Amino acid sequence: MTETRIAPGSVTAPLAGTSDLRPYSPGLEGVIAGETSLSRVDGEQGKLLYRGYRIGDLVEHGTYSAIAHLLWTGEWDPRHALATAPLPDPVLATLRALPASTKPMDALRTAVSAWGTTQTLDWPPTVEQARALTSFSPSALAAFARLRAGDLPIDPDPSLGLVEGYLYQLNGKRPNPGTARALDAYFIVGAEHGFNASTFTARVITSTRSDIASAVAGAIGTMKGPLHGGAPSEVVDQLAKMGSVEHAEEWIRDALDRGERLMGFGHRVYRAYDPRAAALRKVAESMDRKPEWLELAIQVEDVALRLLAERHPERPLKTNVEYYAAPVLQGVGLTPDLFPATFSLARHAGWTAHVLEQAGANRLIRPDVRYVGPAERDLPAA
Ligand code: ACO
Repeated sequence: MTETRIAPGSVTAPLAGTSDLRPYSPGLEGVIAGETSLSRVDGEQGKLLYRGYRIGDLVEHGTYSAIAHLLWTGEWDPRHALATAPLPDPVLATLRALPASTKPMDALRTAVSAWGTTQTLDWPPTVEQARALTSFSPSALAAFARLRAGDLPIDPDPSLGLVEGYLYQLNGKRPNPGTARALDAYFIVGAEHGFNASTFTARVITSTRSDIASAVAGAIGTMKGPLHGGAPSEVVDQLAKMGSVEHAEEWIRDALDRGERLMGFGHRVYRAYDPRAAALRKVAESMDRKPEWLELAIQVEDVALRLLAERHPERPLKTNVEYYAAPVLQGVGLTPDLFPATFSLARHAGWTAHVLEQAGANRLIRPDVRYVGPAERDLPAA
């Protein structure tokens, strides 16, 4: 059944003088703007399901390739394989032409756009298109990272899985299995998360019958904003400032007194512990090359949760995905400026699955806006 209720408190009253009495929720908060069978985000229970399967089970028993296939097709095949794809020459030429100061998110968005010019992307979008784009982007980001360091891009090794292949093309050597597995787990938890802003962007673009490259380029542009593609590197900065668990309580109290936020805690939807954080904590703890501050992060978490509960008894503020994404991404050897673009690579499976879902039951997404400008009037006399 489709729910039509709008969250209490989020509907503003019409402005005096306007005759438009329809409900309005700034930021569309609490508004049901579509239907999906891809993922269920249950903020109260702290559950995340992809096509009904629990995220913790998928991390334990699946691979990113299998999860992408599950999202695109609805079928669970744990042996499903996906490798990185070679870069078309015009994409490579575009990456080489970028200024040295280009940020990784801008490079990835540009690469996806350039890739679109090399493909025949007829409507409706297909699973093959989704697979091709998801396989292309890790090669593009790895090539960009190497070019800006003055190194030559590395061709894909089709015998490696997608995430392993990304690390290989980035570093020039095959990652050890533990490292590849840890990043694969990160990709799984980052693959899909309901109607977040970038996914909604991809669906709006698809609803006009535009192509999958345009939808994903738009989604990357949306994720680039700091309110969306949050940087787990800030978690690392805060832990470094605390220095030790003995200083954590004092440091956190001072930070909260100054009105600062603790990075890696709180979420718009989750009121319970973010299930992605729980899955990534397990992964971080089982890594061969743990960052030395992981122990500190685990000790500080308890102190932070206690102080946040003291400070905000009215609002449960729990650990979110960013807190344990930081040790995993740093533990696999990524530099912090690659964190957001790597998150975008992981989200390709979800974005492209939403593109397919939108196209499968398409209706142009074109909401109304409440007019709050001047009433009808004559131009001033000349
Ligand atoms: N540390 C301290 N106080 C917090 C935190 C936090 N991490 N999160 C929320 N609060 C407080 C706010 O100050 C506010 O208090 P007030 O009412 O006294 O002003 C109250 O809790 C409610 O905060 P909102 O901003 O209304 O909560 P919202 O649900 O909009 O915010 C958000 C969610 C942006 C994630 C917030 O919790 C935050 O800033 N967290 C820190 C940054 C972070 O970890 N971001 C990653 C999120 S996960 C992701 O995006 C994939």
